[in-house]
Amino acid sequence: MKTKVLNNSHEETRRPPNKSETLGHCPDTPPKLVGPLHVEFNSKQTLHKVREEMGSHLLEGGRYKPPDCIAQQKVAIIIAFRNRHEHLIHWLYYLHPILMRQQLDYTVYVINQDGEGVFNRAKLMNAGYVEAMKQYDYDCFVFSDIDLIPMDDRNLYRCFDNPRHLAVAMDKFNFHLPYNTFFGGVSSLSKSQYLKINGFPNTFWGWGGEDDDIYNRIIFRGMSISRPDLVMGKYRMIKHKRDLHNEANPKNPGKLRQTLQTMNTDGINSLKYTVKEIKKDILYTFINVDIEAPLK
Ligand code: UDP
Ligand code: BGC
Ligand code: MN
Repeated sequence: MKTKVLNNSHEETRRPPNKSETLGHCPDTPPKLVGPLHVEFNSKQTLHKVREEMGSHLLEGGRYKPPDCIAQQKVAIIIAFRNRHEHLIHWLYYLHPILMRQQLDYTVYVINQDGEGVFNRAKLMNAGYVEAMKQYDYDCFVFSDIDLIPMDDRNLYRCFDNPRHLAVAMDKFNFHLPYNTFFGGVSSLSKSQYLKINGFPNTFWGWGGEDDDIYNRIIFRGMSISRPDLVMGKYRMIKHKRDLHNEANPKNPGKLRQTLQTMNTDGINSLKYTVKEIKKDILYTFINVDIEAPLK
């Protein structure tokens, strides 16, 4: 009887260790980063070719986990989207290899606005946050435009001690910030930073101002903005015209004087939308949402 118990415990110690027992945490500085990158949009990529090239490294839904270490953060990349399929191909082609080199445990969420109503970038981002949280215990959210490609892989798509603005040096603004409080393009917030500001506004229909409202929220909650320098923070934006149903909304700038009040009632606590479809491609999770957009 006694020997049998001893035998059992012996076998227990000889069991091959499972992965999470053997892997160490990924280092603070990912070792395979290369620095400045060549980015151009002339090459004719197809979704098919990008799938062939990098699909084997990914799990369904555009999900990745570093094979050789435990990622420091679980990151959901949220993209507000409608009718920019060519841009999506460029984004996936450039970003997947960068994000892999950054050793992130990440998933790419493309949040598509259903229908032809007025576009609402910030509300789509809110829906993306909620839908991502239903799938996995993310601790960091990167909110990105579909047309912005980083030109340096040291610009890490993760979260920091303060909300981070990543797209600090865009080509269309001469590789500078257009103004000091600019928070547009690409940003990252941890779950707690995002909840502290009640998420993003749902009421900025059409183009302009929603990123300035998010900036205000962050400052009003006593946080500051973290940023990479102007070398690591370079971006190329794929050239485009203003989209249909996303005209500059003249009502938006004036709303920015009210952020301190409106942020308490307009945000993640008032978000209403319905999911119409979730499709998992190997390169991304596509979520089609009805955000109750006005037609004009
Ligand atoms: N967007 C989109 N479809 C639209 C309008 C906007 O997918 O019809 C998304 C897309 O991610 C885009 C972002 O919203 O990059 C911001 O819009 P836009 O690029 O027009 O803004 P800007 O170029 O002025 O920063
Ligand atoms: C708008 C922002 C926009 C910025 C840069 C500002 O006037 O309010 O939403 O990101 O211009 O284009
Ligand atoms: Mn753009």
